[in-house]
This record gives sequence, C-alpha cells and structure tokens, in this order.
Amino acid sequence: MDQLQRPRRLRYDPRLRNMVRETRMNKSSLIYPLFVQEGNNITQEISAMPGQFRYSVDTLPYELERVAKAGVSSVMLFGIPEKKDELASGAWAEDGIVQKALKMAKQEFPNLYYITDVCLCEYTSHGHCGMLCGHEVDNDATLPVLAKTALSHVQAGSDMVAPSDMMDGRVSAIRTLLDKNGFSSIPILSYAVKYSSSFYGPFRTAADSAPSFGDRKSYQMDYHNKKEAIKEAQLDLEEGADLLMVKPALSYLDVIQTVEQKFDVPVAAYSVSGEYAMIKAAAQKGWIDEASIVCETAASIYRAGADILLTYYAKELAQYMAEGRLG
Ligand code: PBG
Repeated sequence: MDQLQRPRRLRYDPRLRNMVRETRMNKSSLIYPLFVQEGNNITQEISAMPGQFRYSVDTLPYELERVAKAGVSSVMLFGIPEKKDELASGAWAEDGIVQKALKMAKQEFPNLYYITDVCLCEYTSHGHCGMLCGHEVDNDATLPVLAKTALSHVQAGSDMVAPSDMMDGRVSAIRTLLDKNGFSSIPILSYAVKYSSSFYGPFRTAADSAPSFGDRKSYQMDYHNKKEAIKEAQLDLEEGADLLMVKPALSYLDVIQTVEQKFDVPVAAYSVSGEYAMIKAAAQKGWIDEASIVCETAASIYRAGADILLTYYAKELAQYMAEGRLG
C-alpha cells in the first residue's frame, strides 16, 4: 500500500482524538437564561420547555444555587410583570420584577455574573417591543424608554445589558444614558443580528409576550438576508456595542461565521427556546439521544465561530465540558 496520507491515524486512539480537536470550548463561555415573575413560592414549569421554569424572587435562589454548582457563571434574566400597560412601565420601575430579582440575587449570589435582557415586549399590554403609534412600533419614541430600562437594571445591579428590541439607534441611546449616570464601564451585549423567527414560539408562551396583533417583521430581520446582518452589526459597533449577538443559532450558523470573521469583538449566539423544545420533544419520544445531540449542536455553534453561547442547556453543557466529552 502506498497510502502516505491516512487521516484515520489521528482517529484510532480516544486520547489523540481529544488532543487534535479543532474546536475548544469552556464552560466560562456559557450563559443561562432565566425567567422571573411576580408572586410567591412559584416554580412553574414552562409547558413547551420541559425542564425550564418560571421562578418568583423567593424561589429563584434555589435555581441560582444549582446554576452555580453546575459551574455556569453567568445568567441572563427575563422578567414577567404582574401588570402590563401601553407604556411598559414595569420594564423600568424601580420595584419592577427584574430589578427586585437583581437586588436579591446580587446579594445572595454575588459570584454570578448578571446580564439583563432589555426589551419591552414582556411589559407592554400589546406585546410589541416598543411604543405604538397606531399599529406601528414607533422607533424613536421607544429609544428613551429602552435607555431608561437599561439604566434601571444597572442601578439595581445588572453587570451587563443586552438590548433585544431591534430598534434603530438603541445602543447609542443606552450608551449615552449609562455614561451620563456614571456607568461607563458597564458593557452592552447587542442582539445586533436578531431574526424574526418562529423559533421564539415557546419563549413567548413562557414570557406571555406574544404580540396581540401583527408580527415583529417590521423590526426583526428577514431570514433571507445576510448582508443586512453585517450592516446591523457594523452600526451597533459604531454606536458603542461591546459584544454582538446572533439569534437564533442553529439555523443561522452561516451568519455567526460571517459576523465572527468580519468583526473583532466577541460574538455570542443564542440557541433559543424553539431549538431547545425540538431536542426535548424528540428525546422524550425516544427518537434521539438527548445528551449526544446537545453536544453535537453546541459544538456546531462554536465551530461556526461563536465565542459565547446562551442556551437552556447551559447546566448540562457545563458538565459535559468539564468531563471532556465536549471541548
Ligand atoms: C425579547 C426576547 C425574545 C427572546 C429573547 N428576548 C422574544 C422575541 O423577540 O419574541 C427569545 C428567546 C428564546 O426564544 O429563547 N424580545
């Protein structure tokens, strides 16, 4: 045999396979999304997301403890208020749900890193991500409300803010207000490239945030487009974003790769609720092996170029990474 090149030589021994892995990942890059709602003694499973729960401020510590024990060091908080109104006043209230959760969490688990999602859809009576003018979301009227919301999160203890509303100019509005109030060292993780996606379905039931009329296509991106992703990312960096996010993840691996190659900032990918639900459902039917699929899909997102992964599987992935099964 005159086979000089034999790629299989590197595959026979499991120790060597691990040595030559091209994609490396670490649990420090994981962010776990959490839902917190008004009330007491609540641990309510989200129907389309088995294994994920809505917590009240008094039950949240038990989950934060599990997160910390799993070796995940960062969480992203979403709030579900008691009352919603046209002005999204629960989003920026000093005693709003996210603000209360942050104050408790920072005190009880100061070692965790807290990121807050800045958006209005969970707080508006109509479920859209901004202020309405007729049936249109009014971009410029929404900016001060988003900035006010981000500021109130930071005042309550948020370590990083992540605007997910897709209004033009929001990063700049948030950066300016934070700086004016002495928070120039708080980073902004911009959901710069956020597609209008049916993969958010389970989240909207979890957060009661589905729009009561129409859809989000006038502000979230059309999934046919990629050049537009570059434009969005470029603008957000010019406005002062520190990190960029692509969302969803699995159907947008090409977009993650393009954004990672074009820009010299950390890139996060959000593996969203629908991605979680699909894996869970098939696993519950016994059609796929959950752990293997979770590892394979996570690796694909990092291989595409993500530096950071937001996922409902963060606790499990931290374990797989620690075991060397992944990364
Ligand atoms: C808020 C927001 C959404 C998600 C994150 N932030 C919902 C949406 O835009 O409709 C979705 C996250 C997920 O599906 O896991 N705007």
